[in-house]
Amino acid sequence: MLNNDIENVMISKDEIKAVVKDLSRQIERDYKDKFPIILGLLKGCVPFMADLLKELDFHLEIAFMNVSSYHGGMESSGEVKIEMDLGSPVKDRHVIIAEDIVDSGRTIQSVVELLKYRGAKSVKVVTLMDKPEGRVIDFVPEYIGKTIPKAFVVGYGLDYQERYRNLPYVGTLKPKIYMTEE
Ligand code: IMP
Repeated sequence: MLNNDIENVMISKDEIKAVVKDLSRQIERDYKDKFPIILGLLKGCVPFMADLLKELDFHLEIAFMNVSSYHGGMESSGEVKIEMDLGSPVKDRHVIIAEDIVDSGRTIQSVVELLKYRGAKSVKVVTLMDKPEGRVIDFVPEYIGKTIPKAFVVGYGLDYQERYRNLPYVGTLKPKIYMTEE
């Protein structure tokens, strides 16, 4: 049913699987003795974080934060708001932030700055997707699954007006979906 609203598949289920495996090998190599906190940014991180965690075979802690910059539409508002803060202290801890996508870079940049201000020993970012053409600040995630063009995508955690997060792959929407809702 959701398939019918998708114009193009940008990252297939199989490709996501391979990308997540590859990212987890890199993270495992760098963090296996560091007992890091993997911090997921809700809600988009959920499928990615769940798959990533299952591939990581070493001691770690998980935490979540909910920050928002988009307000359900297709353009970033430029404002970053903390809706839900993480419960665990990050002081002297290595933190890896798990993001679904980095676009303008504002969301992730403000979270990185906040964690550093709170005394994290190190803060790095793993993102399933990177949209460098959307950047308005200078920000490069340390671990990038796939670099994609500046298109609006949904699925595997990413939404359009809170829908499509449950698609098992990433794709672009048929224009009629958002044109009829404007
Ligand atoms: P940034 O602050 O502009 O980098 O925005 C990052 C956040 O915007 C992501 O965590 C997503 O929630 C959302 N976002 C960015 N690009 C897309 C997209 O193509 N589809 C859906 N959400 C997106």
